[in-house]
Amino acid sequence: MLQASAPGKCILFGEHAVVYGQPAVAVAIEQRITVEISPSEDWRIDGMRFDPNRHPHVEALKQRLWDGGPPLSVKILGNIPPASGLGSSAALSVAAAAALRCARGRQIENDDWTEGWTASRINEVYTGIGKHRKGTSLLAGKGSVDEDECAILAHAVEAFAQGGRASPIDSSTCAHGGCIILSNKIETRYNWLYSRELNGVKWDVHSVDLPAQLDDYYLVIGNTGIKAPTAKQVEKVAKLLQENPGRMVEIEAIGKIARRGIEALMLGDMEKVGHAMSENHLLLKNLGVSCPELEQLISAAVPNSLGVKLTGAGGGGCMVALTKDPKSTSEAIELAGGRTLITRLSSSGLELDKEGNGPIWSPF
Ligand code: PMV
Repeated sequence: MLQASAPGKCILFGEHAVVYGQPAVAVAIEQRITVEISPSEDWRIDGMRFDPNRHPHVEALKQRLWDGGPPLSVKILGNIPPASGLGSSAALSVAAAAALRCARGRQIENDDWTEGWTASRINEVYTGIGKHRKGTSLLAGKGSVDEDECAILAHAVEAFAQGGRASPIDSSTCAHGGCIILSNKIETRYNWLYSRELNGVKWDVHSVDLPAQLDDYYLVIGNTGIKAPTAKQVEKVAKLLQENPGRMVEIEAIGKIARRGIEALMLGDMEKVGHAMSENHLLLKNLGVSCPELEQLISAAVPNSLGVKLTGAGGGGCMVALTKDPKSTSEAIELAGGRTLITRLSSSGLELDKEGNGPIWSPF
């Protein structure tokens, strides 16, 4: 049996605008999804017969990493509510990609991967050159798993599920953990990881180390309980912009606020971070991606928070409050009808919890 896990994510700045290349910031949260795989007589998910329509992310990964492989039993565990803006599908995709890669191993020749992974619909061939040892060998277990590859696969799978419009913010944050910044250019102040391109939009993905004083601050996430598919919300904004191209200035304004928010975050100026979050929310609300239930939780959290906004695609799903007093903030949100999760502003990324005893299947 193999087991991998990945964190959910919370977008602090820039959702929706990031789809159009504007900067965005997300942190990995303490809540995670764990994927377990083991050989089985037929394909199963959580003990039930596998239905590709119910699990499109697993199906898409199966086609890419397990084409022709033997059937598996897949178990999905975790505490990230689905379809609520916390990256549950990206966390699932990252963890499942790692488990499948670990279970098939990776062939290495002369310090290079013999198989690059071509992300369909993403103009990129990923080869991971120079990351592994010399000679021809089959890497199995932990050594075969590569965070970047899992992030690429998860992005491709999300793009597929979102009708071709998806930024890599969820997939990169769930793969690498910590705090991830997307920008339309390489930012020399941050740790540049890679570029991604999809349907003519390019993002440079960076990681940053947050200042230590942030340990005193918490995010309280309030869930409306309304499931809001990301694809629908992304489509709604796309339609609005098609009909009113002038409203692209609002997308650009979100980008400016995100930049201000990042600066404040890096300086540990949490009052400013909170202000920027609340400003970001007003623009999202204007774009039509909030809803009365989100507004109710947001209003309840305002008195106990430094800043409050919806997080993720909106239309339901979750809001997030930045606070030093998570107990009071959480109580206020719950009184207004929300279910809360509390997390610090960062958490570890992909982890391989159990690597099994050698490959389950080797296509080489
Ligand atoms: O709701 P989530 O967790 O899928 O977040 C989506 C973030 C968007 O910016 C709305 C879409 C994207 O692909 O970046």
